[in-house]
Parts: sequence; structure tokens; C-alpha cells
Amino acid sequence: MNLAAVWDRVLKDTSVEHSSIHGPDHWARVERNGLYVAQKTGANQTIVQLFAVFHDCMRENDHIDPGHGRRGAEYAVQIKDELINIPSDDFDKFYYACEWHTDEITTDDVTIAACWDADRLDLGRVGFILDPLYMNSEPAQEIAKRDDISVLDRVTVRNWKKLVCRSNVR
Ligand SMILES: [Fe+2]
Repeated sequence: MNLAAVWDRVLKDTSVEHSSIHGPDHWARVERNGLYVAQKTGANQTIVQLFAVFHDCMRENDHIDPGHGRRGAEYAVQIKDELINIPSDDFDKFYYACEWHTDEITTDDVTIAACWDADRLDLGRVGFILDPLYMNSEPAQEIAKRDDISVLDRVTVRNWKKLVCRSNVR
């Protein structure tokens, strides 16, 4: 699967402001956080990367916005045949992770845990103190306990702006 092509498409189709607290800078940090967790827990990295780009892409506002996770997952269903080539069990898990990421707190599934923790590890951007009780995986709990995301800051974040520049010159 070509993840850059997926990002390219989502960036074109989303109506979330690029500067929004739930925009692509956030998605890229969620991807980084999720890969950090996944490398330590064995979570499915592709699912984590898809969750990052889709989970907030169909938000209509920066507040509670009920149903936005499900809308993001439904949008993924629409472009699945063209761009998202993963086994159907994996797609179902990715869909569940998107749909429930704000309504459910805990999960026993190591991959869904990496998705949700990745999102919650970015809450510092809006002034929240990270809470280990809202984290499902050990690596995320450790970061929250220390309230120190410097281990994440050492990992490269996807440069999504490059994709936007490229698609603008097309
Ligand atoms: Fe998010």
C-alpha cells in the first residue's frame, strides 16, 4: 500500500483546516507516536498509520463533534478499493479504532491500544496533562507518568506539507 498516496488523497478531500489542532500536523504526530508504541508492543504498524491519517480527517469542528471517528472510517471505506490494500480483518480493526477513539477508553487489543494511545499522547498540544489512566499500552503509560514526551520528539514526523506542495504544482 502506498501511504503517501493515501495522505495525498486525504489532504485533498478533508475539510479540516490545515492549521487546526485536529489537522494534519496532529495526524503526523499521532503517526509518529503510534509507531513508537507499536515498535515496543508489536502492534500492527500499517493499521496505526492508517488510523493516524483518518481518525480526525472528517471532523466538522474542533470541539466534541459526535460521530467524527465513524465518518473518518466511512470515508476510508469509500476509497478502500482504490488506495487501501490491507486484509479485511485489518481494515475492520482500523475501522473500529477510528469509530470508537473518543467514546471508548480501554481496549485489550494491542493495535487498537497503540492507535488510541498515539492520539492521547498528543493531548499536550492543547494544554492537557497526560494521564496514565487513559493509556492502554505500557510505553504510553510510562511517557504519561513521566509527563515527558522527549522520547517522541526524537522521532521523525512525516513532512505532509511536501505532499501539499507537490499536489499544488500538478
Ligand atoms: Fe486525534
